[in-house]
Order: sequence, then C-alpha cells, then structure tokens
Amino acid sequence: DTGVVRRERFSGGPARGFLSSLAADERIFHADLAVDRAHVVMLAEQGIVDDDTAGEILQALDDVEDAGHGALPDGEDVHEAIESAVIDRVGAEGGKMHTARSRNDEVATCIRYRLREDVLDAVENTIALREALVDVATEHTETVMPGYTHLQPAQPTTVAHYLRSYEAAVARDTARLLDAYDRINQSPLGSAAFAGTPFDVDRERTAELLGFDSVLSNSMDASAARDFLAETLSALATHATTLSGLAEDVIIFANKGYVDLSDDYSSTSSIMPQKKNPDTLELVRGTAGDAVGGLTGLLTTLKGLPRAYNRDLQRAHGHAFDAVDAVADATDVAAGAVATATWNAEVLASEAADGFSTATGVADLLAMAGIPFRTAHEMVAEAAAKANGGNPSVATLDAVAEEVLGASLWEYVTRDAVEAALDPAESVASRDSQGGPAPTAVAADLETAAS
Ligand code: ARG
Repeated sequence: DTGVVRRERFSGGPARGFLSSLAADERIFHADLAVDRAHVVMLAEQGIVDDDTAGEILQALDDVEDAGHGALPDGEDVHEAIESAVIDRVGAEGGKMHTARSRNDEVATCIRYRLREDVLDAVENTIALREALVDVATEHTETVMPGYTHLQPAQPTTVAHYLRSYEAAVARDTARLLDAYDRINQSPLGSAAFAGTPFDVDRERTAELLGFDSVLSNSMDASAARDFLAETLSALATHATTLSGLAEDVIIFANKGYVDLSDDYSSTSSIMPQKKNPDTLELVRGTAGDAVGGLTGLLTTLKGLPRAYNRDLQRAHGHAFDAVDAVADATDVAAGAVATATWNAEVLASEAADGFSTATGVADLLAMAGIPFRTAHEMVAEAAAKANGGNPSVATLDAVAEEVLGASLWEYVTRDAVEAALDPAESVASRDSQGGPAPTAVAADLETAAS
C-alpha cells in the first residue's frame, strides 16, 4: 500500500513535532476537504481519474469529515493526514486524489478559502458597529459635549458629531477589509508545486466549484503569493487602531462622568468594592497590539523569501487567523459597549463651555462683523487672559475692544450675538457647515451614513 510507504517516509526524526502543522491546521480542516472535493470532481470531469475512483474518494472524504479533525491519522499537516485517511479507506487508488497538484497550491487555496469566510464575519461586525454608532448618534444630535484637541477643551460639539466621526472611520475600515477580500478570493489551485502540471487540469472549474472570483494565472505567483495576508492584516491592524482610539475616548469620558458603561460591559475589582471598571474597552484598546504584532510578524516572515515555496510560509497565515479572531471579537464588544452606554447630557452640557471653549466662536463672530480674523483672535486671547482660566464676561470683551480697536464692541456686534456666541449650544448650532456639529448638519450627514 503506497500510503503506508509514504507515512513511513515521514514517520520519524526529532524535528517531527516542529515540522508538523497538523494541530494548527484544524482551522483549515473543512477548507481542505472542500478543496479536495473540487479537485477530485475536476479530475474526473477531465478524465484524469475515472468516475468510480473519484466516487470512492468523495465518499471517503465525507467519512473523514464526519470523523472530524481529531480522528485524523498523524501527519506532517492536514493535507497529508487527510490523504492518508482517504488511502486508509479506499486503498492505494485513493492516492490518485493528489494527481496534478502539490501541497503548495493546496495550502494556499485552503488559506484563501477559510480566510475569506473569516473576513466576511469580521465585516459583519464592523457593519454592526457602524449601526450602533449611527443609532446612538441619531438620539444625540442635540446633546452638547466638550470637544478636545491635545486632550484640552477646544470647542463644544455634540455626542452625535463625535460618534459619527468614528462611524465614518469604521466605514473606511470596512471598505479596506472588503478590498482585501477581493484579492483573497482568487484561486491558486492547479499551480501545483509552482511549475504547473502536464495533466490537462481545468483551473477555472476548480475556482468556480470553490466560489473563487478568478484564477491566479502565473503558477509560480499563485503558490508563493501571500500578499493577500499582508493586505488583510493591514486592514485589520488599521481597524484595530480605530477601535483603540474609540475605546480610549470612552474610557476617558467614563472617567469624567460623561458616559456610563452598562454593567454588562464593565468589571468590578476583587478587592475594591466600589469599583466599576471599563475593562472591556481596555481590552478593545489592547487588541491593536495583537493586530499590529500580527502584521509585523507576517511581514517579517515574508521578507526576503526566495521564489517559490519555502516552509517559512507555514508560519505566515496563523498571524492572519489570530488577528481576524481577536479584531472581530473586539469589534463586537465595542459595538455592544457603544449600544448600551448612557450619555449624561447634563454633565456634558455643564462642562461644554469649560476652558473658554466658545472662544473660537466669539472670534468668528467678530470676524463676521468685519474685524480681521487675526485681530479678533488677539482680542479674544486677551479677554481669555484677563479671565484667568475662566470664561470672560461680555464686559471684559467690551473692555478689550476699547483697548485694541479704540471703539466699543457694540459698534460691531450686538450684545445678544456675543451672549449667543458664549453659549455652548448656540455655538454648536452656528457651526452648520457641511459635516459640522450643528444638529441640522449632523442629521443631514447621518442620512448619508445610513444610506
Ligand atoms: N503545511 C505546509 C504549509 O502550511 C504545506 C505543505 C507544503 N510543504 C512542503 N514541504 N512543500 O505551508
């Protein structure tokens, strides 16, 4: 039995465990069976393997799938183990399954087959996160909050404007994952070790049977290419970085009392009874480490690999599978935390004007009245200095106008207009440029997000 000979050839050596990917290959067990089936069907259709043998092999593959990955015989990897299991059931004829292919095109096909499913699952989660962000934003177009630059109070904005900013970023993350998907979904099968095959294989047919969009033509490229992993990990690392910023903000906002996380997304302390900690969001923030680490690990593995196949590649795809799991979970948790958190409108409103955050709006008002913006900026800065960290009164602003312009402020603007500019809600409402925080502008922008 040729199967026995094959297994003896690979049976020993102190490095056997080191060489074997069988345990990690559980991830691609079902993918390998699908790839085997498509290949065997194509071999039969092309008259390369007779129908009876193909039927027996397909029957054996069903049997192997029913028994599960754990029941496979020992092997260097899942491809070899499944082949051995088929030969155990069918006899030596089962070895015809591996006609006109190599484990090199086989494994590349399996990784792509499995990863495209994982990427679509991850994308479902990014879409759910976008929906959560839009839903909560829609409820909070009027909820004024402090906006920050350099983590210092900058200008008042709204919770809706803030959340939509992340929805827009997650929309681009989603598009990047789908771009990666397009290039994952190409078939290397039929390229064999790298150098093609003398058998009359139909590569378009196996691609079609496996649901791939197209065939990777050059057989050396097809079996060696792993740039689809780099692209996927890059998209995942970018998304994880987006998530880390969102998580960091919400952790800070929870610390300030702006937002309450639901108990479902909080943890307690084993010693401090009063604690309610944002652990879930800290783990979301930390997931960027997994994804960026995975991208770095992958690129380091791929760098400088000669054409065509090298066993280093066995250590490449695990980075992508680990990262897609971690990032998809983090996305799911972020969506749940956002959907269930409570924004404290009163606390947010009372702090929205802190640190003279309406200063820019006052300068804008003076500039609209004809005072050069740079002069207006200096006047408001002077008033801010006089207010000693507090918010200047209307009288202080008028006094500065006398100093700088030699004229009363009321020659330029009305008292009502200045009072409105100093009010955070009015300040927000005035900034109604496209994409700005005014409730009307955010509502219009959210319409485009939902479409
Ligand atoms: N298990 C291998 C991998 O994951 C595939 C087998 C190719 N092995 C070989 N020696 N050509 O890359």
